[in-house]
Amino acid sequence: MIKPDAFADGHTGAILKMIEEAGFTIKAMKTVKLTAEDAGQFYAVHSERPFYGELCAYMSKGPIVAAILEKENAVADFRALIGATNPDDAAEGTIRKLFAKSLEANAVHGSDSDENAAIEGSFYFSEIEKI
Ligand code: CMP
Repeated sequence: MIKPDAFADGHTGAILKMIEEAGFTIKAMKTVKLTAEDAGQFYAVHSERPFYGELCAYMSKGPIVAAILEKENAVADFRALIGATNPDDAAEGTIRKLFAKSLEANAVHGSDSDENAAIEGSFYFSEIEKI
């Protein structure tokens, strides 16, 4: 996902360019606006964390881009491309180092496993939307 601030600040094109130049294929993509309940469902794995409420409010504050990406070793390579969750810790040249504003407004989300990528992809896309 490209998160609300990165989308609102007009970084979608630059982020997608970095993703494609890193060798990812976009298999599905759309712009959506989540409700706080939608965000809560997407991030249910974090429901016991203290930041869950703020995370759901943040992710529903404006449009985002959801995409399914394909690449050999996609999960690990995407996490390397986006950088550490906290942009203060993100390496130079990573998407979060370039475009994140804070731990919450950290520009992008990437799945942390192939299993979660399948679950998260199906949250946004039906089978016929997955090319
Ligand atoms: P993301 O990769 O989308 O997964 C969950 C998000 O919660 C994370 O990026 C951060 O933007 C946000 N978040 C807010 N506070 C924290 C925290 N203390 N630790 C980890 N993630 C946090």
